[in-house]
Amino acid sequence: MAQPNLGKLAYQTLQQSKGIVGIVHKEISTKLMELVAPEAVPETPIPSADLLYELRKSIKELEEIDWLEAEKGLYPKSLLFEAPWIDWFLKYPLVWLDMPSTWNRRLKRKFQDIPIDINKEKYPDYYLQNFHHQTDGYLSDYSAGIYDIQVEILFNGTADAMRRRVISPLKKGLDTNFPDLKASDLKLIDIATGTGRTLQQIRSSIPKCELTGLDLSAAYLKQASKYLNNSDNDLVQLIQGNAEKTPLKENTFHAITCVYLFHELPKEARENVLNECYRILKPDGILIVADSIQLNDHPNFMEVLENFHKIFHEPYYKDYIKDNINDKLRKAGFCSINSESFFMTKVWSARKQS
Ligand SMILES: C[S@@+](CC[C@H](N)C(=O)[O-])C[C@H]1O[C@@H](n2cnc3c(N)ncnc32)[C@H](O)[C@@H]1O
Repeated sequence: MAQPNLGKLAYQTLQQSKGIVGIVHKEISTKLMELVAPEAVPETPIPSADLLYELRKSIKELEEIDWLEAEKGLYPKSLLFEAPWIDWFLKYPLVWLDMPSTWNRRLKRKFQDIPIDINKEKYPDYYLQNFHHQTDGYLSDYSAGIYDIQVEILFNGTADAMRRRVISPLKKGLDTNFPDLKASDLKLIDIATGTGRTLQQIRSSIPKCELTGLDLSAAYLKQASKYLNNSDNDLVQLIQGNAEKTPLKENTFHAITCVYLFHELPKEARENVLNECYRILKPDGILIVADSIQLNDHPNFMEVLENFHKIFHEPYYKDYIKDNINDKLRKAGFCSINSESFFMTKVWSARKQS
């Protein structure tokens, strides 16, 4: 009789539990909103049984790949169970306490509701607003403290599994283009690193690689530092800066990752970021971009994409889902462009010309 794969079973159980928490959280919060602030409830159609079936199937496929790539040794299996659980557990009540102000912002369309004491000159205009009605936008410790839990709930516990999809093309690209370099010779930067979850995944899969994270938000970088620089691992450098125009020297990095930034940028800023990535990559360097799937990637999910920017304040999402990123990559100078989708995330890989 075949032995059950206990590790895989444990992983599937964890993912299912996270999924249930996400669904129950959203169900209860919607019911509460209907009771307390009915005007704030977004007018979106109830998803059909077919759509729910497709979504569940797509999540299962994602988890299958996630497990398979861990089995192949692309990253340790322990990574699939890793998260700052205690911190998240302790902060979860804040997500509930935050809700009324989120509903209020949605209802009153208060998109520029951000802390008054910030120095606005340090940020581009498009950044000075709250994305997904988030309290303080990206501009406070409070927002940074609950961001990861909010994302986990939004994606029913699949956020890290989606982020890990950058690892396979990243490792493949590095092995192909820099076969003679040891991990400790490699330099990688994660652009718009936020709280550092992607760097955490990469560090487990390419230990000793020199890692840097860049983001516009000092608060999010502080949170990233708490997660990343609290153990015996090598220090991760964190830099506050605009991804459109970084303070970094040209031809510096062997690889760049950039996860969930592009849908929050206006078209021109997306182009600027790609040009900047090209500039700071070494020749033959690899760029891996992960972001939301786009309109033509999964016809069955069009409804989900169209509702996303209606429910959440995502001012550039509608433009992003139609944008031809391959074209932009080519214009920036990149070659060997590929893309693949996993549940709600699309991953592009590209190479700077030698
Ligand atoms: C949706 S979050 C994604 C964060 C992280 N990569 C993740 O996977 O959770 C977008 C991040 O992009 C950052 N950001 C937005 N515009 C930026 C810019 N022009 N330059 C640098 N970071 C930017 C925000 O501060 C935020 O941390």
